[in-house]
Amino acid sequence: MTREVNAKAPGKLMIMGEHAVVYGHPCLVTAIDKYITVKARISEEAIDNFSVKSFDDRFVKSALSVFRYKYSIKNNVDITTESEIGRYGLGSSAAVTVAAVKALAELFEIKLGKQDLFNLSYKAVLKIQKKASGFDLAASIYGGTILFDGKTKQVEKKTEESLPLIGAFSGVKPDTVTMVNQVVKLRMENKNQVEHIFRCIADLVMKAKEAINRQNWKYLGELFNENQKLLVRLRVSTTKIDMMIEAAMDAGAYGAKISGAGGGDCIIALVSDEKRQSVEKALTEVGGKVLDITVGVSGVK
Ligand code: MEV
Repeated sequence: MTREVNAKAPGKLMIMGEHAVVYGHPCLVTAIDKYITVKARISEEAIDNFSVKSFDDRFVKSALSVFRYKYSIKNNVDITTESEIGRYGLGSSAAVTVAAVKALAELFEIKLGKQDLFNLSYKAVLKIQKKASGFDLAASIYGGTILFDGKTKQVEKKTEESLPLIGAFSGVKPDTVTMVNQVVKLRMENKNQVEHIFRCIADLVMKAKEAINRQNWKYLGELFNENQKLLVRLRVSTTKIDMMIEAAMDAGAYGAKISGAGGGDCIIALVSDEKRQSVEKALTEVGGKVLDITVGVSGVK
């Protein structure tokens, strides 16, 4: 039996800046305590063997192909994945890609820095999703809560402490690529207006960075609400999302917004300790599924 290695990468929650980040603007993202583990070993057969969830399959194969090409690897491999993330928009494709590249690097004893790991993982993702910012890969690699620059792909680490967030799933997981393309189309039709929305989002992100530094959750909540209004103008909100956000606000959240591509997917609400229970209850009553997560956890290991 050959040596088996494994790598474990966290999923993510977008805090602020979705969609605008695809056009080079900054975003804030946090790593969550839901992980994907990738196990790898050199195959004893003349083929690669995958025991991988169907929705992770393309990303694992893409990671392998990018890695094999870069390091001229001739061996076949056996790859297995185990996921705690499921199909919610919590970054399973990014986490599985990062964990696969990291596991392959361990297996072939290649030392990869965080930037190398990002570059290889980003290449693997771009082979599948032509337009992606890579923010989710950065969250999975660096961990904590980070400011990710959509243009330079540089990361500024904000904090490893948890933010007082609630994440809730709307029950629908639309395809991220479809949502990204929807915004591409809107931008083609109304370039000036959409570019202006992106700049406003970027401005909110920079204010949110300061709010996080100062742990000013009330102000951060107001910024969430402003960001949500702009996401509505980008037409990525839905009736269900609007209902969930309204329910969270009526129950006393500081602010609430889409987290991720929209079209369903997840929302996040910022809450005080006193209001947490009532906001969770309100979200459940309108059909949201409150996620059992801790944010700001460490990156891939
Ligand atoms: C999706 O979770 C976030 C988007 O900004 C896409 C991306 O950044 O790759 C919509």
